[in-house]
Amino acid sequence: MSNRSSSKRAKGSGEEMVSVALKDIANLCKRRGFIFQDSEIYGGIGSVWDYGPLGVELKNSVKSQWWKSMVYDRNDIVGLDSAILMNPEVWKASGHVGSFADMMVDCKECRKRYRIDHLKESNCPECGGDLTEPRSFNLMFKTQVGSVEGQTTDVYLRPETAQGIFVNFENILNSSRKKPPFGVAQIGKSFRNEITTGNFTFRSREFEQMEMEFFVKPGEDEEWYEYWVNARFEWYRSLGIRKENLRLREHDKDELAHYSKRCHDVEYLFPMGWSELEGIANRSDFDLTQHSKLSGRELNYLDTSTGERYVPYVIEPSGGVDRAVLAFLVDAYRKETVKGRDRVFLSIDKRLAPIKIAVLPLLKKNGEIVEMAHRLRNELGGRYRVVYDDTAAIGRLYRRQDEIGTPYCVTVDVDSLTDGKVTVRDRDTMEQERVEASRLNDYMLERLPF
Ligand code: GAP
Repeated sequence: MSNRSSSKRAKGSGEEMVSVALKDIANLCKRRGFIFQDSEIYGGIGSVWDYGPLGVELKNSVKSQWWKSMVYDRNDIVGLDSAILMNPEVWKASGHVGSFADMMVDCKECRKRYRIDHLKESNCPECGGDLTEPRSFNLMFKTQVGSVEGQTTDVYLRPETAQGIFVNFENILNSSRKKPPFGVAQIGKSFRNEITTGNFTFRSREFEQMEMEFFVKPGEDEEWYEYWVNARFEWYRSLGIRKENLRLREHDKDELAHYSKRCHDVEYLFPMGWSELEGIANRSDFDLTQHSKLSGRELNYLDTSTGERYVPYVIEPSGGVDRAVLAFLVDAYRKETVKGRDRVFLSIDKRLAPIKIAVLPLLKKNGEIVEMAHRLRNELGGRYRVVYDDTAAIGRLYRRQDEIGTPYCVTVDVDSLTDGKVTVRDRDTMEQERVEASRLNDYMLERLPF
């Protein structure tokens, strides 16, 4: 969490433009079924999005790559799936009731609301009207638990997943027998009543976070902090984000969130400029100390080998799933001219591609070709997301798959029926290769990592 009340803008934000416009990405997302406006048939609802058939695959792949790198590839991190609704005391302890607010102003003429740190001028940017005095606006969504009128309790939709980890610290310590340094990873929905929205999914009111709280001995926190800042930067690089579009930026002291000792943002060069993808913070012992005070439970660790008892410090890499999805889409977007025709393709990492293989029959009227294509789809489909498509001519089918980033198209033609071979076309190079259909499973296993 960056300091929501800070008047600073991210350094460099809005300064540089890259070639693909966000509206091109939004168009592609709608046209191909990645992302739709939520409740669109009713006119939508501001900054809430639905992920379509391809979007859900991409999102799941981003989450599973994160989970793999955080949990499966290591022995010092365990997972958690805590609830969205929590006892409201949690948010008092965490400081969200008191401090999770933006300073905002309203236009006295057109009633539009702005975050003060996003305003460059002293009047309304829309109509030039006078603005009200700044007021603090808490970003948490409130609702009620209980069914009897007058006997309900106000609760909040969580604005971060992290607190679910802190309140389960004791449970996890006792049940998993982990000792610092160790971490707890969680992916889940968070909600913020954002004032300034726009920029497609970048700032949504309902979004998903991938957060990991890494508990360390005080004194070892700086070392682990450096480790996680680098590890998280490299994770985006390892999944193909171009180096020139990614940078680290350390927060100035006056930008730090109330709990934060230090924080680095991993920033991506989105079409609207350098913007935060993920924050890596040293939360010190703030959260465990606060929850100990308010709950009355001692949240600390006893090192039985030395007899030393301490409140662990926490290093937190906290990323947004939706922002990562958007960055992967923007970064993969390519346009080129091939033999006088424009080609749009998503050169996305194969592990993230929503569809891994498309099986295409060259002649859909030939029953044997169609049957062979279906058989191959079914054989490959047990392992990967594979589609069969015969709804257009082959050139058009290729363009469709290019645009959604499918790494391989497998074409079955008349020759396949006699020589048992199919044509495999590579998305990026467009090179084609004849491959024995009986070897296709192994061929894909060699080329499509998990
Ligand atoms: N637990 C720390 C925390 O929540 P944050 O910087 O407020 O820190 C972490 O949020 C990440 O969550 C951000 O880097 C961003 O990727 C994502 N995020 C935050 N607010 C968001 C929003 N309104 N829409 C989409 N993603 C958001």
